[in-house]
Amino acid sequence: MLAVLTVFAGAGTLGAQETEFSHVGTKNCKKCHIKEWKSWAETSMAKTFETLKPGVAAEAKESVGLDPNTDYTTDPECVKCHVTGYGKAGGFVDIETTPELAGVSCEACHGPGGTYTEDQYMSLKNKEYVKAEVVAVGMVDTVGEAQCVSCHNSESPFVGDDFVFDFESQREEGSHEQYPLKYPH
Ligand code: HEC
Ligand code: HEC
Ligand code: HEC
Ligand code: HEC
Repeated sequence: MLAVLTVFAGAGTLGAQETEFSHVGTKNCKKCHIKEWKSWAETSMAKTFETLKPGVAAEAKESVGLDPNTDYTTDPECVKCHVTGYGKAGGFVDIETTPELAGVSCEACHGPGGTYTEDQYMSLKNKEYVKAEVVAVGMVDTVGEAQCVSCHNSESPFVGDDFVFDFESQREEGSHEQYPLKYPH
């Protein structure tokens, strides 16, 4: 699997040093969260990289003036919202290098897992981890509107400039099934 790496990305953020946690891919999460994985795999977001291929979703593309025969799988202007962690540490590069990060997967909503899946955080050795500690190393506390609107916004060719994402109505439809946690955190 991709190595865990910590990058210091200071440039452009007023010189402040900001830790960028690395992505690890869905196989890692699947080991311990098979129910969520199975449910997620059925969602349109899990499969959405496919829609960038030539000939796929042809009618939808034509309806917004996109050429249905163009291969958009390498176009950064499309890829950024149809994969996980594009341009970020350990994130999607291209379909040959990082096939596991094609589509909107676990870490697009829950945060890059390179550090929070280490043994001392969320693991089978530490099932009763302290949530704040896991959140401090990259896990999103509670997945909410902020995660969704990084992609569900008017930059999508399929919505107008006046688009407003309705989180309440979309949350249940877009997320995997929810299963109660077993341990206190
Ligand atoms: C080695 C096992 C393991 C791996 C790998 C793992 N997790 Fe977990 N995760 C756990 C355990 C154990 C819990 C606590 C489960 C419980 O309380 O029932 C948990 C809980 C969670 C929770 C609930 C957080 C909370 O406390 O509210 C989320 C979200 C989560 N994992 C996401 C992920 C994602 C995303 C990945 C992959 C990047 C991942 N996990 C990888 C073991 C793992
Ligand atoms: C800002 C993020 C974003 C960008 C950029 C983006 N998309 Fe999407 N795309 C989405 C979202 C979100 C949806 C699903 C709902 C919607 O907004 O219509 C979607 C839906 C789609 C669909 C399915 C439409 C349907 O009705 O079946 C296709 C095909 C698609 N996008 C192709 C592309 C192509 C090709 C590009 C580049 C020219 C692109 N997208 C750029 C976010 C984006
Ligand atoms: C589109 C966003 C989205 C994606 C993608 C996603 N999740 Fe979630 N997940 C949520 C939301 C929303 C919740 C409930 C709120 C929370 O716990 O943050 C949740 C909750 C969880 C929980 C807590 C227990 C439960 O079932 O509610 C686990 C574990 C989890 N997700 C694992 C995963 C794994 C593993 C993947 C990838 C196979 C994944 N998630 C992909 C949105 C997402
Ligand atoms: C990394 C980008 C990204 C993130 C983050 C994301 N989505 Fe999506 N979402 C998409 C894309 C792209 C599609 C289009 C899937 C397709 O039809 O191919 C989509 C489709 C959907 C759909 C299916 C309905 C439709 O219009 O096609 C729902 C519902 C949805 N998302 C809800 C959510 C929710 C809720 C969140 C946050 C918890 C979220 N999404 C986070 C990119 C994203």
